[in-house]
Amino acid sequence: MASDATATRITPADLLARKGGEPIVCLTAYTYPIARLLDPHVDLLLVGDSVAMVLHGHQNTLGATMDMMVAHGQAVMRGAVHACVVVDMPAGSYEDSVQNAVASAERIMRETGCDAVKLEGGVEMAPQIAAIVAAGIPVMGHIGLLPQSVEKEGGYKIKGRTDANIAALHADARAVEAAGAFSVVIEGTVEPVAADISAMLSIPTIGIGASPKCDGQILVIDDAIGLTVDRVPKFVREYAHLRDAVATAAENYARDVRNRSFPAPEHLFSPQDKA
Ligand code: KIV
Repeated sequence: MASDATATRITPADLLARKGGEPIVCLTAYTYPIARLLDPHVDLLLVGDSVAMVLHGHQNTLGATMDMMVAHGQAVMRGAVHACVVVDMPAGSYEDSVQNAVASAERIMRETGCDAVKLEGGVEMAPQIAAIVAAGIPVMGHIGLLPQSVEKEGGYKIKGRTDANIAALHADARAVEAAGAFSVVIEGTVEPVAADISAMLSIPTIGIGASPKCDGQILVIDDAIGLTVDRVPKFVREYAHLRDAVATAAENYARDVRNRSFPAPEHLFSPQDKA
């Protein structure tokens, strides 16, 4: 387990206080080793429902379940001592009623020990956000392109292209803020619109496919390290190319096993070895 007696975990309140200040660095994380590696470098780790696609091979984030989010939330919490850890509420766990939303958020907090939950939606989900906040649980909002709405919308549609949609985005942003969210993700939104929303709000905005003028940025970790095996989205910058490294390692390992050069003498235990 990760331990650093001197580490102080960043809180949602700390991040709220950074509105308009130093950009907030966020990445997704789903596992213990990745959480340990990222933790010293980021302000926030999101256990995103993208885990359903990235690690479990589902077509979209609708494959995420409460059990999945709790298990990955626990793993990330074991590895992170410094970053604020936020766990996504999966589709179906909060939309139908305020009661269900609070019960689901409470389960995630109780079973993972994370710092906050995130849910998708603006005006329509404001009652859920307000109720979860009233229950003492910090909430991160998510507006713009909402991956959990992919089937309803018939695909992933970039937001902010029409006046009507811009007005709806502004209403969503204001509703999330008024409901008490400590920050809000803006995803897949035309640049000047995302920048305007960021300037309009008093809570930090975290962009993904949005604007450098947001108060922070987030990427899916597998996209950022070049491990994504399918299509890499336009808004991603790859900071490493682990696809190639993994394929090369597997190719070299297979060669060494087949030609019996692995294991070598230094990997073997002799009867004289202690322990
Ligand atoms: O699930 C996720 O990874 C997310 C980010 C894309 C913001 O919600």
